[in-house]
Amino acid sequence: MSKPKIAIIISTTRAARFGHKPAAWVRDIAAQRGDIETEIIDLRDFPMPFFDEVSTNAWAPTQNPVGQRWQKKVAEFDGYIFVTAEYNHGIPAVLKNALDYAYPEWNKKTAAFVGYGAVGGARAVEQLRLVAAELQMATIRNGVYIQGADFMAALKEGKDLKEITYLQTGVKDLLDQLLWWTNALKTARDQEKLTKAA
Ligand SMILES: Cc1cc2nc3c(=O)[nH]c(=O)nc-3n(C[C@H](O)[C@H](O)[C@H](O)COP(=O)(O)O)c2cc1C
Repeated sequence: MSKPKIAIIISTTRAARFGHKPAAWVRDIAAQRGDIETEIIDLRDFPMPFFDEVSTNAWAPTQNPVGQRWQKKVAEFDGYIFVTAEYNHGIPAVLKNALDYAYPEWNKKTAAFVGYGAVGGARAVEQLRLVAAELQMATIRNGVYIQGADFMAALKEGKDLKEITYLQTGVKDLLDQLLWWTNALKTARDQEKLTKAA
């Protein structure tokens, strides 16, 4: 079986953001394994307007060209790692907008979560799990939560996330589970395609 393709999605876009740092950290850990192919996806590269289509693309094709480009990009992957901040105990609006801009492209794939914030972005991640379920994604139980003093040290003092041992273990466990579910769903999707073609 070919290596599963996993997008690592940076979920914030503001100029002074922190989000690209944990995304790069997760990518570097994944790169050491050899059983998974990853690509960082930056929502800055997909500046979609607030959703303004006649419908979700489950029902009608999207007209906005950036939205169309976003859907093509999402479709390339077998699963996703959402690296998310917590804004007022919820997910960043730019991430929710991006999630709404695709539908079939997310379906029957995996979603894993890396949160950061005072409580590791846990409240945002729990909301994101509900949204992912509606988009027909299988959510991965083990999340990574960069929190408390560790988050503040990384955010304010530039502490390297590589130095925080329990977080490395957390990413390994997340990737192990993600790989299992992603391969299982890929097999099922491939089987479904064969059945439909027959
Ligand atoms: C609008 C806004 C709301 C925030 N709300 C929360 C929050 O509810 N919980 C939390 O832990 N941190 C909160 N923070 C602090 C963020 O954890 C911190 O700014 C983090 O760096 C945001 O991610 P980003 O840098 O990738 O944008 C908030 C920050 C902003 C800008």
